[in-house]
Amino acid sequence: MRAVTINTLQAHKAAGDKFAVITSYDACFAHLVEEAGIEVILVGDSLGMVLQGHNSTLPVTVSDMAYHTANVARGCSKPLIVTDMPFGSYSSSELALANAVALMQAGAHMVKVEGGAWLLSTIKALTERSIPVCGHLGLTPQSVNSLGGYKVQGRDPKQAQTIIDDAKQLEQAGASLLVLECVPADLAKKISQALSIPVIGIGAGADTDAQVLVIHDMLGLSSHTPKFVRNFMAGNNSIQQALSDYHAAVKSGEFPSAEHTFSG
Ligand code: KIV
Ligand code: NA
Repeated sequence: MRAVTINTLQAHKAAGDKFAVITSYDACFAHLVEEAGIEVILVGDSLGMVLQGHNSTLPVTVSDMAYHTANVARGCSKPLIVTDMPFGSYSSSELALANAVALMQAGAHMVKVEGGAWLLSTIKALTERSIPVCGHLGLTPQSVNSLGGYKVQGRDPKQAQTIIDDAKQLEQAGASLLVLECVPADLAKKISQALSIPVIGIGAGADTDAQVLVIHDMLGLSSHTPKFVRNFMAGNNSIQQALSDYHAAVKSGEFPSAEHTFSG
């Protein structure tokens, strides 16, 4: 595999070829993920829950994210590295710029931000200054206190329309990728077809352009496993094989199946 760029992912979408994304937080897992041929590594702020033991992503800091991004970047050379901007680190465009520069200098190739219309000027400011951006809509975990829990989003028609409108506006503002989390499969399909940028689903059905999972979840290491996760260690005796199986199952469209999917 050659080094993955945003152009590679755009070409996958144009050709109708699915690609896989997975979280990593350190050099060891990043190397295994690279060996499995997985195209994109997300240094997710899920590390606040998975590694740090918090019950939300809110306590994670920019320096935590920079530290883990640097560790991941030392462990691989081919996957595209996307790093989450943590809670509160992009509440204004100026703040976002300064913090995104720190994450890019730590080794990220792109940063990810959660939210819709309020972020458009920030996304424009970042992309104009050569910082590619991945959006994130649907269940946005940094908003858990506003959403009232970790729940499926976009089931009522008005909310679904807001997500569709936000997705189109994020693309127009310059976002290169979009994550859709915990939305009904038919809504995710509609958005994936409407956008020209690749859409990455998690708990969003099989019809997005790519899938993402938290690596600890798909290795069966998490105490609570969400409905949309498949344990790829089941029937395998190595992490390397589990990661290769995940990559193959996403590419073939075999994962996710109906049991991992939310309906409208
Ligand atoms: O932090 C994370 O791992 C994420 C993915 C679940 C999309 O944002
Ligand atoms: Na995240």
